[in-house]
Amino acid sequence: MITSCQILCAPLQGFTTHVWRSAHARIFGGIHNYYSPFMRIEHGKLMNRDIIDVKPENNQDVPFTPQILACAPSDAVKMVQHLKDNGYEHININLGCPFPPIALKHKGSGMLPYPQEVEELFSALKSISGLSYSVKMRLGWQDADQWRNIFQLMDLITPTHIIVHPCTGKDQYKGNLNLEAFDEMVKVSHYPLIFNGNIQSLHDIEQIMLKWPSIQGVIIGRALASDPALPCPEKASPENYRKFYLEIYNHYAATLTGGEHQVLKKMQSFWEMFLLQANRKCRKAIKKATSISSYEAAVESLFGTL
Ligand SMILES: Cc1cc2nc3c(=O)[nH]c(=O)nc-3n(C[C@H](O)[C@H](O)[C@H](O)COP(=O)(O)O)c2cc1C
Repeated sequence: MITSCQILCAPLQGFTTHVWRSAHARIFGGIHNYYSPFMRIEHGKLMNRDIIDVKPENNQDVPFTPQILACAPSDAVKMVQHLKDNGYEHININLGCPFPPIALKHKGSGMLPYPQEVEELFSALKSISGLSYSVKMRLGWQDADQWRNIFQLMDLITPTHIIVHPCTGKDQYKGNLNLEAFDEMVKVSHYPLIFNGNIQSLHDIEQIMLKWPSIQGVIIGRALASDPALPCPEKASPENYRKFYLEIYNHYAATLTGGEHQVLKKMQSFWEMFLLQANRKCRKAIKKATSISSYEAAVESLFGTL
């Protein structure tokens, strides 16, 4: 029995967009808070896609925290100022992204080996009044001890909580989790911790909470993207999966302006994470479809097997 444990939704760039979050909250729910995929600055400017994703009108009635990618203080301040201007009072800082083109520029988990840069970032963010922060991080970039120096800087922003994916950036998404390091973090942290990584079921959550009863909760990424009913198995009906899928499909069919092919590509990437346990033959047909009509037929047969 899970008591007093927050179950949060982890951000997945390109997947857990405001469309996904809002459909999820309405049809499935069971999530204490959703985090946006990270915002970033490209060529000195916020990306249009990110601006749309965090618009307050796109996030109504969904408990939601916007996330920024840890980066140079001047860029981070631009993003935070934008969020503040849009009425947000709490922002999550991403010190976990392992994607090499980002990390090698000292952003995301690539900033973890450079406490001086993290200190400058935290100091700049703290100087903006009226905001609170949380952090989502890994243990380090290439060395699983780098979090120790970063934890010493947390008092600069007094985070409401720290989400930890206990592996290094270099592990990407394949490495085993370093549970000894997480254990150590639980012992020394002055701030509430949230566990992240490889959670597949409510049973996994129970085991984590039994092992570390003092943590604030857990956050789930890929398994929730695959089975949106993970936190609320009583809602795992074919009707709900179909309703959820249709909300997302109808949204992209109505808003993407690049024609059928663009909608097809967008939805095929959605199925790379959605219902991974569903019929393999149907999933393959969805992946291989070259027209919207063959795609829709493959989706219909998949739903017919649920
Ligand atoms: C495709 C993909 C995109 C991701 N995008 C983000 C992101 O924008 N921000 C972030 O903090 N983490 C991001 N993550 C990491 C997840 O939020 C999460 O930390 C990671 O997947 C481990 O949790 P899981 O094992 O439950 O999936 C991403 C992961 C994947 C696979």
